[in-house]
Amino acid sequence: MKDSQIGVLLKGMLVLLFTLSCPFGFSQDTISGHLPEVLRLNNGTRVTSAQQWITKRRPEILQFFKQQMFGQSPVRPKKMIFKVIDNEPGALGGIATRKQIRVLFDGRNDGPYMDILLYLPNQIKRPVPVIVGYNFAGNQSINNDTAVHISKSWMSANTKGAINNYATEATRGIATVAWPVETILKRGYGLATMFAGDVDPDYDDGFKNGVQALYPELQNRGDNFATMAAWAWGLSRALDYFETDKAVDSKKIIVYGTSRMGKAAIWAGATDQRFAMVISNESGAGGAKLFHHLEGENTTRICKVFPHWFCHNFQKYAGKDSALPFDQHMVLALIAPRPLYVASAQGSNLTDSYGEFLSAKYAAPVYRLFHTNGLPVKIMPPVDHAVFGQIGYHNRTGKHDILPYDWEQFLHFADLHFGTNR
Ligand code: GCU
Repeated sequence: MKDSQIGVLLKGMLVLLFTLSCPFGFSQDTISGHLPEVLRLNNGTRVTSAQQWITKRRPEILQFFKQQMFGQSPVRPKKMIFKVIDNEPGALGGIATRKQIRVLFDGRNDGPYMDILLYLPNQIKRPVPVIVGYNFAGNQSINNDTAVHISKSWMSANTKGAINNYATEATRGIATVAWPVETILKRGYGLATMFAGDVDPDYDDGFKNGVQALYPELQNRGDNFATMAAWAWGLSRALDYFETDKAVDSKKIIVYGTSRMGKAAIWAGATDQRFAMVISNESGAGGAKLFHHLEGENTTRICKVFPHWFCHNFQKYAGKDSALPFDQHMVLALIAPRPLYVASAQGSNLTDSYGEFLSAKYAAPVYRLFHTNGLPVKIMPPVDHAVFGQIGYHNRTGKHDILPYDWEQFLHFADLHFGTNR
């Protein structure tokens, strides 16, 4: 055989090896450094059963992330009160019942509060599953329903229609594309939303203005109760309300969030197992994205630009993405075996689609311990091609956003798992 023939043969064998290895996921995972194993206890023992996961590994991981990244959160406040301040059975032209619920965190009318806007589909006569997630600009921003109270909380100066960091009537309906309320209701789901800034304003205020003011003992420490944890905690408080509302099926609450709100939704799902499903839309760094995949936003940027999001201990990991002794696949695994959907967008460079896919993929072994199929693919599906297992995933075309395509997949995923609309 000539040298050139041997060369061609060798090349052919390499291509074959590459192709064969793809379905097992060995070839493309451009992970930098060593990715910590989700199924190995700190003492080195391999975790091989769901029981071991539940009793040993899950608590270890949860404790680690509470100490090093998200910080500690308080339990449900004893004095919390829910005040239904609006209950309209003929909302949105008669298709919905609208409720607005003021959550008084410490029971005081003049204390910190969060307003929940809840729409329930009138065509369903039994308790319904509810999708709950934060909005970025106040409850009045999600549609043009003039009865929705305008937020009185501080918001980003970039909010369209806000003046001096506060909402005006001009902010009403600015996010209607992001919140297809009627589509969601027609599919048989309730929709609840809150403004994250009610719980904690999104700037580094030394934790003076958010719910943290109620918990001074959780400040001035490495594992302080920081903003992301406060937002997740607020989602759990909404769930506390749903448990009191007979029109809601509180065993079927889906926690959803886009981008920074997706990070909060993931942590809420990880810490509060009452959430039956988690949907993360382009949550990126500190959400679904794997830090060990060195694209998009990294620890340095997160720690510098958003120092209030994670606890003080997290600062020591800035710049160490390849050497982190943890990563976000472990946070996603805390959601197992509950259904989890991770959505990416090809044009959302900061959130890093491939890094998000990898987290889902490396969380999947925990799902398989529970005899679910985990993520049904090992290599990233093509754009605009959603996959639905116990973990769902898609990477759509287009920029960082939440679009009808995303909602269509989320609702389909929810239907599959909750047996709705079958
Ligand atoms: C910034 C931030 C991201 C975040 C995003 C958002 O881009 O760097 O981490 O996800 O805002 O919330 O839209």
